[in-house]
Amino acid sequence: MNHQSDPVVAHTTHAAHTARSAAGAPLPHESAELHVSGEARYTDDIPELHGTLHAALGLSRHAHARIVSLDLRRVREAPGVVAVLSAADIPGENNCGPVVHDDPVLASGEVQYLGQPVFAVIATSHDLARRAAALAASDDVVRYEPLEAVLSIAQAKALQHYVLPPLRLSRGEPAARIVAAPHRIAGTFEAGGQEQFYLEGQVAYALPEEQDGMLVYSSTQHPSEMQQVVAHLLGWPAHRVACECRRMGGGFGGKESQSALFACVAALAAHKTGRPVKLRADRDDDFMITGKRHDALYTYEAGFDDAGRLLGTRVEIALRAGYSADLSGAVATRAVCHFDNAYYLSDVEIVALCCKTNTQSNTAFRGFGGPQGALVMEVMLDAIAKQLNRDPLDVRLANYYGIGERDITPYGQRVGDNVLAPLTGDLLASSRYAERRDSLAAYNRTSAVLKRGIAITPVKFGISFNVPHLNQAGALVHVYRDGSVLVNHGGTEMGQGLNTKVAQVVAGTFGLPLARVRVSAADTAKVANTSATAASTGSDLNGKAAEDAALTIRARLATLAAAEYGGTPDAVTFEDGAVRANGVSITFAQFVELAYMKRVQLWSDGFYATPKVHWDARTLTGHPFYYFAYGAAVSEVVVDTLTGEWKLVRADVLHDAGRSINPAIDMGQVEGAFIQGMGWLTTEELWWDGNGRLMTHSPSTYKIPAVSDTPAVFNVQLYRNENAEPTIFGSKAVGEPPLLLPFSVFLAIRDAIGAAVPEAREAAPLRAPATPEAILDALDALRASAAASAQSPTLAPAAGNAASGHAAVPAAARNVKMDG
Ligand code: MTE
Ligand code: MOS
Repeated sequence: MNHQSDPVVAHTTHAAHTARSAAGAPLPHESAELHVSGEARYTDDIPELHGTLHAALGLSRHAHARIVSLDLRRVREAPGVVAVLSAADIPGENNCGPVVHDDPVLASGEVQYLGQPVFAVIATSHDLARRAAALAASDDVVRYEPLEAVLSIAQAKALQHYVLPPLRLSRGEPAARIVAAPHRIAGTFEAGGQEQFYLEGQVAYALPEEQDGMLVYSSTQHPSEMQQVVAHLLGWPAHRVACECRRMGGGFGGKESQSALFACVAALAAHKTGRPVKLRADRDDDFMITGKRHDALYTYEAGFDDAGRLLGTRVEIALRAGYSADLSGAVATRAVCHFDNAYYLSDVEIVALCCKTNTQSNTAFRGFGGPQGALVMEVMLDAIAKQLNRDPLDVRLANYYGIGERDITPYGQRVGDNVLAPLTGDLLASSRYAERRDSLAAYNRTSAVLKRGIAITPVKFGISFNVPHLNQAGALVHVYRDGSVLVNHGGTEMGQGLNTKVAQVVAGTFGLPLARVRVSAADTAKVANTSATAASTGSDLNGKAAEDAALTIRARLATLAAAEYGGTPDAVTFEDGAVRANGVSITFAQFVELAYMKRVQLWSDGFYATPKVHWDARTLTGHPFYYFAYGAAVSEVVVDTLTGEWKLVRADVLHDAGRSINPAIDMGQVEGAFIQGMGWLTTEELWWDGNGRLMTHSPSTYKIPAVSDTPAVFNVQLYRNENAEPTIFGSKAVGEPPLLLPFSVFLAIRDAIGAAVPEAREAAPLRAPATPEAILDALDALRASAAASAQSPTLAPAAGNAASGHAAVPAAARNVKMDG
């Protein structure tokens, strides 16, 4: 087995990345070669101990039912079965919910969604465990009395079924301003959910240890929480449980809280049998059991002036929480705080509902509610532009946050680092937006079936956990006698390159080549009480904590060097693998050995707590974000108006990653997030039947983007913009914000649909995901409404000055106004 740092050695020795270049260099991911060669070790690849057993879950057949009887004899007698466990076997708390304790590990008394685990089978092989677990489908094993199920957001809303109380943020007098405005729109919109579709599914491997200890290998973004829920489940103190994660094959939010059920069942089974137990969900079970991105139903209304400037705005965002709270409160809060996206809203009301339905419990997914909040704003601005017969760009620019005025968000935080206008200006120039809009209009006048559309959308994304106490991190740095360095930090690696960035920071601090720094697995026994690697804060938090530890060691070394060679500690340098003091130069390794002989402590912990953040959860106001990340994208599509098929022809993306620690990794994050967000808004459709059974539970029915879906022209660039706050290396978090950039793809599709019905006075009623069916539905509806309003113009929805005709011919895009 290769060491994880080997691929890095290959790329860095000749390049000699040292003190000044380790951070900021476009180095490959620390495990890149292992990823592509198949040698990277994931949880399921850990060599199994002798006697390892395998678990599988028996799932509910009903969306909502009382469990009348559970007779597990037949399951126990199935081939290879060693034990069958139900809720009654749990010695401690039967819960794996992260905030509200409403998430049973194994259902007891009642099932609340179709797919909910009812019992766990422990068998000698993965296959035998699954075969026995499939007996959950038999009536003689589990008998149910069906109860009424709530399956849609609309139904839950009507019944006021919520998992948490509604959130409401309001400023000014939106209702009065809307009534008084010269123009108004009102409407509804819906956006589907999204399965995380991490390539490595949920998996945990639990090993009983001596003196009643438990080691749990878990594919998780949150080892500390896995430790905690397992301890509660077993009724143990936390110090008897350790959780370790070397890497995940993707998490995307789906392993923030929902790795818990798998960790809990594996640990329970290991505890009951006294043997190591692994639980790996196969893809269909993973789909059926775990929550996804919240789908949303929106109701909006707005009043605006002739320029499209918003005067009053109201929105209700009804999110599908599923059967339990999970992280829905925080997701809804982030949705509320991102409704504004890039725009100043003087008078606004935002309501978010966490609707309780008998479906999987929805959870974190890249963007964490931010995309659901901002999407409807972009949809509204587009509709306003259509009503005013203006270019949507102009309406957006008219509403941009300003600098020094019109710069306070609805939740009261000043947008102090605003680069929206210059960033947009750069992108408009590089993408030739105005020119292309004109040529598209010309194309659409002569092309009968194929219609092209283009759209530009910006993003402003707040960085930090909305819950202030989560914004902390720890690290542990060891310098060994030979000068090699081992780093442990509280974050987890899921492909996003966190370990590479942290290694670059530590290497830079010591002036070492990257090959001298190795990052070890996340481990609750090394760094305690960590936060989830989430909210894009992984490198902000853990990079700073690791730097803090490295600086402590460096300061001790500098003191020794000054004492040995003269001069002051401040004048000692650490560069190019050497320590230099008062004209003396010695290799880092030799100097470290000397320090050891002089009994200088060569390891240290480090800690970081994000400054400035505070939040009042009652009024939904405060300073929840340390800073904002920005970006914008222009997308061009072509739509076949006969079949509803479409293609993204070209995308131009400009994204603000601050002063990037690793531009190669950040580019990968921007590209990946763009394509993943495009999947959410176009091809990825979750569909439940009338019984609440998720029918799209595998890649055959659930379509994630493929390489062939990336546009032929994909111009992605990082916007050079050192963070105004003193973050690690001046960088900005980049994991989630670019997921909002493909709003432009969705709106380009809507633009193309509009071009097919040039006489329409309103924007096409397109839902997300914009599947071919949704596109054809929108075309039909738009044609019908255009025909109706042609017959009776007074019924046209847009009062005021909505000019008819030429809807697809935009007003020429004008220069970017920088005044916001
Ligand atoms: N990139 C890859 N390759 N795999 C992932 O699972 N998760 C995303 C993003 N980028 C993810 C990813 C999500 S949801 C978050 S919150 C961040 O990475 C978390 O890592 P960071 O905070 O270190 O950026
Ligand atoms: Mo990311 S959704 O915050 O794990």
